[in-house]
Amino acid sequence: MSIMSSSKYTEDNVTSLKSLTNRLNLNAKYSKFDFHSWVKKNYDLKLGMNVLDVGCGNGAQIFDFIDIVGSQGSISGVDISDESIEEIKQKSENFKNIQVFAADMNNLNTIIKNDFKVKTYDLAHATYSLAYASDPTGILDAMRLALNKAGRLIITSPIDPNSLRELAKKIGNPLPKYDSIGRFPKEVLEPYFRSYFYNVKIEVVKNVLSITEVNDVINFYRNTGYYCSKTEMDLIKYAQLEIESKGFFSFEKNNFMIIGENQIF
Ligand SMILES: C[S@@+](CC[C@H](N)C(=O)[O-])C[C@H]1O[C@@H](n2cnc3c(N)ncnc32)[C@H](O)[C@@H]1O
Repeated sequence: MSIMSSSKYTEDNVTSLKSLTNRLNLNAKYSKFDFHSWVKKNYDLKLGMNVLDVGCGNGAQIFDFIDIVGSQGSISGVDISDESIEEIKQKSENFKNIQVFAADMNNLNTIIKNDFKVKTYDLAHATYSLAYASDPTGILDAMRLALNKAGRLIITSPIDPNSLRELAKKIGNPLPKYDSIGRFPKEVLEPYFRSYFYNVKIEVVKNVLSITEVNDVINFYRNTGYYCSKTEMDLIKYAQLEIESKGFFSFEKNNFMIIGENQIF
C-alpha cells in the first residue's frame, strides 16, 4: 500500500472546509449512527422559529432546519471559515431568511449587535464547534442572553472516550492537540447549564466507526483536529494490522448534547 506524504496536511483541520467535508463524508460512510436525525429530533424546531447557529461550518444544520422553520422563521449563522460561509451563501441564494457571516465566534456579542438582522432567538445552538473556541463561557453568555424568554440553548460536542485520539496519544508524541475536548461537556458545559437553566436535559450517544479501508483511516486521521504527522505511520501500521486480522479498524467517537430550557433570569 502506498501512503501519501503527509507534508501538505499542515493546515488547520478544525476550520478548513476541505477537512470538514472529508470528516462529514467519512462519518456518513462508516457510522451506523444517524447524527442528522438525532440532532433534528432533539433540537425540536418549529415553523417560524428564529435560530442562531454558532460555528455553522458549511451549513449542515442550516440546510437541515430551514424547511422546518419556513419563510416565517430565520437562521443566522457564524463561522470563522470564509470558504464555508461562501459555500452557504452560494447554496442559499434563494433564501432571504438565511444570514451567514464569516467571523470569530469569540466576538459573538458584537456580531449579533452589529451584523445580524435578527437579534433574539428561539434556539441558539453550537454543533460540534464550541469546544474549539478560546472563550467558550463568554460565547455561552452571548448565546444565552440573545435568547427570547422561552428560548433554548443547545450545545452538541464530542465526549470521551474517543479511542482514535487515545490510540494517537498512546503511540504518539507529543500529546494530541485539543486533548481536553472530550472533557469539555462535563467540565464546562454541564456546570454552566446547571447554573443558568431550570431544566437541563443531557443526551449521550455511543458511536462506533468501523473503517474497512486503510486509506480511509489515514484520511480520517489527517482531517481530525488532533492529527500529528509524527504519529501517523505507527497509527497506520496499527490500523492495517487490525484490518488484515479482523476486516475493520474500529474506534469509539461519542456524542454529547445538552439542552437548557427556562432560563434563571
Ligand atoms: C466540526 S465543524 C462543525 C460545523 C457544523 N456545525 C456541522 O455540524 O457540520 C466546527 C466548525 O467550527 C468552526 N470554528 C472553529 N473555531 C471557530 C471560531 N473561533 N469562530 C467561529 N467558528 C469557528 C470551524 O470553522 C468549523 O466550521
